[in-house]
Amino acid sequence: MPGKIVLCRCEDVTLADVEHSVSRGYRDIEEVKRYTGFGTGPCQGKECLAVVALQLARITQQDPGAIPPFTSRPPLAPTPLKLLARDPGAHRFPDETEGDG
Ligand code: FES
Repeated sequence: MPGKIVLCRCEDVTLADVEHSVSRGYRDIEEVKRYTGFGTGPCQGKECLAVVALQLARITQQDPGAIPPFTSRPPLAPTPLKLLARDPGAHRFPDETEGDG
């Protein structure tokens, strides 16, 4: 098959990458995700999960309905790091402020 067929635009995962992962013995959608990195981009697989699952079903000769979606991990949406970082001065428990002054 000539040309590069991109299945996951966020992580630049191609049909050849998925075929290679199957040739290495990774036949489960979770294994293919870990091997290729598909579904780990900003859209978290919203744009590529179905097409990768269909191609995985075709390559492994499985019923597409037999391939479950991969497990989503939080955060479920792109999250700025500043929302996760803790500012030590921004949060104090009541006991911590009583001794001040
Ligand atoms: S297209 Fe695959 S993670 Fe966005």
